Amino acid sequence: MAETVHIENLADHVGKIVTIKGWLYAKTGKGKLQFLQVRDGTGIVQCVVFKKEVSQEVFDAARLLTQESSVVVTGEVRADERAPGIPGGFELGVADLVCVQLVTGEYPIAPKEHGIDFLMQHRHLWIRSSRQWAALRVRATIIKAIRDWLDDHGFLLMDTPILTPAACEGTTTLFQTDYHGVPAYLSQSGQLYNEATIMAFGRVYCFGPTFRAEKSKTRRHIQEFWMVEPEAAYVDMWENMEIQEQFVSYIVQTTLRERRQELESLGRDLSRLETIEPPFPRIHYDQAVEMINRAAETGERIPSTDEPVPAIVWGDDFGAPHETYVAEQFEKPVFVHHYPTAVKAFYMAQEPDRPETCKSSDLLAPEGYGEIIGGGERSGDLAFLEAQIERHGLPREAYEWYLDLRRFGSVPHSGFGLGVERTVMWLCGLQHIRETIPFPRLLGRMYP
Ligand code: 4AD
Ligand code: MG
Repeated sequence: MAETVHIENLADHVGKIVTIKGWLYAKTGKGKLQFLQVRDGTGIVQCVVFKKEVSQEVFDAARLLTQESSVVVTGEVRADERAPGIPGGFELGVADLVCVQLVTGEYPIAPKEHGIDFLMQHRHLWIRSSRQWAALRVRATIIKAIRDWLDDHGFLLMDTPILTPAACEGTTTLFQTDYHGVPAYLSQSGQLYNEATIMAFGRVYCFGPTFRAEKSKTRRHIQEFWMVEPEAAYVDMWENMEIQEQFVSYIVQTTLRERRQELESLGRDLSRLETIEPPFPRIHYDQAVEMINRAAETGERIPSTDEPVPAIVWGDDFGAPHETYVAEQFEKPVFVHHYPTAVKAFYMAQEPDRPETCKSSDLLAPEGYGEIIGGGERSGDLAFLEAQIERHGLPREAYEWYLDLRRFGSVPHSGFGLGVERTVMWLCGLQHIRETIPFPRLLGRMYP
């Protein structure tokens, strides 16, 4: 019996007879030759069925195979530069073939153009398509790179709760649920809990699903996303940015190395990723505002969207066009730091010389992919935090434990949150966040 192998490893089996267990992705045939594109979850390979080389039964089975029929194929691995597939360059000369289930109905995602609503409605099948498959393979590698870097740099995994009694990132995007008669909210961020765990463990991270009832339908927002949140004691906002640039560069370079084929199959311009290495540029919010308003005055346009740059008033948060414009002035991701205190979350430390600004930093990805990280130094000032909780309309009782952290051994500390889906979008060069997660939860869509 031939050894069962994965398509991604075919290079190790050239000249050998192997078995591949998968599904028929596509088929072309002319007379005595059938070309089957078979996928097995790790790649796609062309399987050549030549009438003279197989039994009549096998040839008929191959001829009758329909799209997405499950199939087990055995044959010799041949290296051939012209062979299509992922990875290309290999084909299988079929000796035997068994159809496991013959698809008799019409497969909904036929090789033609489908509207996005139709594809989203069939997401459970759409993920088999090569672009979706490639993006989700990249996602898994990004997640592994995230964990590897943190585990190797002294950050200890701390799982924070998903059911929470209070908001972290403002009350307008909370998903409320019922916790045995009292209201609870799905976590918007594990940060506040990790401000507690760092006082026990020094450097930590949490990594899990995060929920935001965002009312806006944009290509960058989903309701349920994955965020990794490192937090560290005795780290100020500047060291926090140094950690981020090392971390992000590692993620990008690891993904480039391990998922080059997938990125290429997505048509990604890899040269834009190859340059992502520390240091990243840093600009003050004041500078960013100047930059935006200069462009607005001279009627400059945003390179990727060709829309005019809208002016901004000092003190306002950036809209997507502002973010995009600023980020597109740089080759690498750019930190914008010292946002106005009033537009950021309640916990941000004020800059002592300019308390109207805070020790926050956002990391904006190049090429118009927007904010991938939000972070900063946390306030250690008990009285300020008490006032902020009130100013933001947050229920004081729910934050008593958090205030304790400023009473018992408070230290300067910082952290940040990186959104996995935004990172996948950027690295894959995708236009919409819905393709970055297997089953996206979007405004107005929870099926399948
Ligand atoms: O800027 P945010 O809201 O920061 C926090 O939640 C902090 N508590 C993190 C921290 O300091 N520990 O979110 C962080 C990142 C964003 O930069 C973005 O990448 C992602 O999370 N994000 C979203 N991604 C997809 N859809 C949404 N609705 C998102 N909201 C935030
Ligand atoms: Mg943010």
